[in-house]
Amino acid sequence: MQAKSTPVGKKNAPAVPFDSKIVDPSRLTPYLADNICMACHQTGDVRVLKPGKKFQDIRPGHPLDEWLSILMVPPTPQSPPSEDHVEHYYSMTLSKCYRATQGKLTCITCHDPHVEPSREEAPAYFAAKCLTCHTNQSCKLSLEARMQQQPANDCIGCHMPKRNIQVISHSTATNHRIVARPGEAFPDVTYNQTTPSLPDLVRLNPAQEPGSTSQVDSLPAITLLRAYGELAENRPQYVAAYLRVLSELEKTQPDDALVQAALGRRDLKNNEYQLAAKHLRLALQSPSPEATTYADLADALVHLGQTGEALPLVEKAVDLDPYNPVVRKMLVVRLIAEKQYTKAHQALEQYLEIFPQDDFMRQMLARAEGKSTGP
Ligand code: HEC
Ligand code: HEC
Ligand code: HEC
Ligand code: HEC
Repeated sequence: MQAKSTPVGKKNAPAVPFDSKIVDPSRLTPYLADNICMACHQTGDVRVLKPGKKFQDIRPGHPLDEWLSILMVPPTPQSPPSEDHVEHYYSMTLSKCYRATQGKLTCITCHDPHVEPSREEAPAYFAAKCLTCHTNQSCKLSLEARMQQQPANDCIGCHMPKRNIQVISHSTATNHRIVARPGEAFPDVTYNQTTPSLPDLVRLNPAQEPGSTSQVDSLPAITLLRAYGELAENRPQYVAAYLRVLSELEKTQPDDALVQAALGRRDLKNNEYQLAAKHLRLALQSPSPEATTYADLADALVHLGQTGEALPLVEKAVDLDPYNPVVRKMLVVRLIAEKQYTKAHQALEQYLEIFPQDDFMRQMLARAEGKSTGP
């Protein structure tokens, strides 16, 4: 995410950090306008660029789906979205205002990229937005009761309440589900957002205009591989889907470096070192292999007893990804194994410069230097 150039909360600071002279969101369809905001304001559980696409090439005014898939683990009635302060877009789409207008409610219905109302201005500013669709009489609570509140008749104060503490950085401070009453149950649609072709993930950025009847493209297998791979790191229920997509890709796209790297890693985990080395060597033929692929090949070769070849591979991995603690630790271990103690000592010191909080490695350094870390 790009940082805003103007400080947050400053009066009249633009809320949208791109030049709206190039693309004026209010001239776009609601769907395309929201797609602009989603590029930054919707994280989901995993975001994957489409094959060959770059984040900086995203063009406002086009469906975000051309570049990026924002995916979410589907909520279930047993594990509903944790609270209302999920991300802005997702939360907004669950509001009755959005659902009852078939998506006419958009981010820019309420937010003007060039205006950021102050705390005092906010109640009247946003009430005017509500009143483009509602009237004062739409509210079930009597006007008299509403006028007694301070600030008076503050629609958002009651229907878009804020929470006090910011727990998770991606979630919202303001309830964008626009509930009638606090504690309102999530609507049924919350639990019906997957499709038969993708039953285990919700596509948060829709591929096309709401109501469009044309066939939605399924996600490229490579995109799914990345998504499942990332999710499987801390959600074991996605491991099977990951391995299934990987086996498909082994047949359909064996020339893809990412596929070969993933096959190498799979075989490495299964202790199939010979096969792993073969896949990883193929992956390294791509123009820009990833650091972990070098490290995985080194790992496989050590298991195969080809230790001499391993060290330069680990060094390459550290070069490519100097802030990766795993490959830096591998380097220390490799250097010790090769009895290059001076270099190992240097590598350990460099590691601790970057990761000073790692007590285990700190003790290792102390031991190597013959010092005791004390109690
Ligand atoms: C390139 C990334 C990006 C895009 C695109 C973007 N925003 Fe933001 N927006 C930010 C960042 C960064 C912040 C400041 C951090 C925060 O408050 O989350 C922000 C803050 C805001 C705020 C809070 C007001 C403030 O300044 O603190 C609003 C409201 C907002 N954006 C609305 C929108 C809307 C509506 C759109 C679409 C028309 C949009 N943004 C598009 C990055 C973006
Ligand atoms: C684009 C039009 C539109 C805008 C803007 C809009 N709403 Fe709505 N809203 C609707 C529609 C349509 C419904 C469904 C019919 C109804 O209940 O009146 C609805 C329903 C509601 C409900 C009932 C929710 C429920 O769960 O039963 C509340 C509360 C509400 N709106 C408050 C607001 C407030 C507060 C604002 C301004 C911050 C606002 N709306 C802005 C169109 C809109
Ligand atoms: C019905 C009106 C409405 C709609 C639609 C709406 N917002 Fe908001 N938004 C608000 C209000 C009200 C606030 C709180 C503003 C304040 O207190 O100054 C807010 C605050 C925010 C903030 C600041 C952080 C926070 O949660 O308080 C961001 C960022 C934001 N909105 C982004 C979006 C995006 C992105 C969309 C579209 C997906 C969107 N909003 C749609 C009314 C709306
Ligand atoms: C003091 C709090 C308060 C304020 C201020 C307030 N509301 Fe409400 N509103 C409520 C409550 C409570 C209900 C639900 C009543 C019920 O269903 O029992 C409600 C219900 C609604 C509904 C749903 C009506 C339905 O058909 O179910 C809408 C729409 C609505 N309010 C819009 C607004 C708008 C627009 C404003 C600002 C002009 C506003 N409210 C200001 C408390 C408030």
